[in-house]
Amino acid sequence: MSKNDVPSAHISAQYDDIAKTVIMCGDPLRAKFIADKYLTDSVLFNEVRGMLGFTGMYRGKRVSVMGHGMGIPSIGIYSYELFNFYDVDQIVRVGTAGALSAEMQLGDMLFAQAACTDSDYGHQYGFPARFAPIADFGLLESAVRVARENGFQFQVGNIYSADVFYDESDKQMKWGKFGVKAVEMESAGLYINAAASGKKALTICTISDQLVHRKYASAEERRSSFTNMMKVALEIA
Ligand code: HPA
Repeated sequence: MSKNDVPSAHISAQYDDIAKTVIMCGDPLRAKFIADKYLTDSVLFNEVRGMLGFTGMYRGKRVSVMGHGMGIPSIGIYSYELFNFYDVDQIVRVGTAGALSAEMQLGDMLFAQAACTDSDYGHQYGFPARFAPIADFGLLESAVRVARENGFQFQVGNIYSADVFYDESDKQMKWGKFGVKAVEMESAGLYINAAASGKKALTICTISDQLVHRKYASAEERRSSFTNMMKVALEIA
């Protein structure tokens, strides 16, 4: 699998259309917003299934930004094609998460050091036991440095990648008792694909829902925390 296999099944770009660093977010229109607001000379490279992707420049660096949809299977497909067909070196996911830790405040940033999951995604790689998906340490270290330099509130820790958004059992709160700080739906798949491909990945989330205290971020809180998260993602790209 290589440049001869592009365009891939779900990305219509030519091999050189995509930068070696891709910032990904769930919503493809958010990817367009990021490209319009933060990148110069941005060019659209994908429209297949409306999963918009753009490549442009940020402070002299060539960066791509693309949607990944919702859930592990969706980010699994896109990250696999980016790592394996387009030879992308690193993917930084920016997203929102629900806090499982009472200490995390709305708008706080979380760098996902590792990702627990009850998804069976990793099983496809044929291990006789469970794989522990972790972030790339270099990306994590850079994210911590940029956040400190800018005085941003952040935590580093474990995240839980759920398959179910509407958790009727309340079972997911149990992860909080084990120190898992937040729930989202993609990082475990991204980290497993990065490991399988010998590539790098990091998820940066901001807390949009405080599930312990049942508080939810306002539009303004979402906007300002998104700006901080983007600054970190773009600086480490
Ligand atoms: N659950 C799963 N994913 C999420 C949540 C949540 O509560 N909030 C933001 N992403």
